[in-house]
Amino acid sequence: GKVRAPTHIISTISDDRGDEPCYGGVPMSTIVEKGYGVGDVISLLWFKRSLPRYCTQFIEICIMLCADHGPCVSGAHNTIVTARAGKDLVSSLVSGLLTIGPRFGGAIDDAARYFKDAYDRGLSPYEFVESMKKKGIRVPGIGHRIKRGDNKDKRVELLQEYARTHFPSVKYMEYAVQVETYTLSKANNLVLNVDGAIGSLFLDLLASSGMFTKQEIDEIIEIGYLNGLFVLARSIGLIGHTFDQKRLKQPLYRHPWEDVLYTK
Ligand code: ACO
Ligand code: LMR
Repeated sequence: GKVRAPTHIISTISDDRGDEPCYGGVPMSTIVEKGYGVGDVISLLWFKRSLPRYCTQFIEICIMLCADHGPCVSGAHNTIVTARAGKDLVSSLVSGLLTIGPRFGGAIDDAARYFKDAYDRGLSPYEFVESMKKKGIRVPGIGHRIKRGDNKDKRVELLQEYARTHFPSVKYMEYAVQVETYTLSKANNLVLNVDGAIGSLFLDLLASSGMFTKQEIDEIIEIGYLNGLFVLARSIGLIGHTFDQKRLKQPLYRHPWEDVLYTK
């Protein structure tokens, strides 16, 4: 019989050995002929299945809405400083990407984890938020530096509107909104932010599309796929900021002394 030589790598998402490369078993020609978009490619390479159009469109909307948020946020700031230090595209890009984490852009997975756990255990928003406070953990997906209860994040509203129209169920999102109502009663900056909106809405996508088993959903949440959406999206903006600084021939950045409190 055949003896299979042991391999050092196992890979399941793409294959470049045939006439044409395949993503999740789908040949490139099909991807082009059928007019697939980035959302379909993400579905194939990350989730290893073709998702319905409303899901791939949702993924694309997340990417478009998170592509950039101006020059002042952590990621863009780092990228701008790095580009102005004369570094190349990749260095400028990763310098910005490295700021993505629990405070900035990388709270999506934790928001999904905590919202799911609280909703599935039947905790009221009050019980959830107060239990987090007791543990000394800020609620991921809640809070923003510039957005307020009376100046909500337009991206969040757009995502919610899309999901309310197209998703079979938005129970996790509605729970996140109830959590926001409670946190806003405590302080005006404690809005549902874009990470929290994507985290809760992706739970709804996973749970209500009928495309994933319970075990698969748990695995996606546990591994933490969802911050990938922000990383991918914001790379678009960070690359743009790099080109912008180079085009503008901006000199080396040095922070002004006046803006530093020198103290012992
Ligand atoms: N949950 C509970 N309480 C909070 C939260 C939260 N998520 N955020 C702020 N607070 C409260 C706390 O009481 C905090 O006091 P503390 O410093 O003693 O904990 C108080 O508000 C003041 O907070 P600030 O530090 O002034 O808030 P800041 O504007 O610096 O923080 C931030 C904004 C970092 C987004 C914060 O709200 C947070 O950590 N949120 C959770 C992480 C998150 O969702 N990040 C993604 C943001 S969206 C994006 O980056 C694309
Ligand atoms: C972002 O998308 O970068 C923002 O929500 C963060 C910010 O402070 O504006």
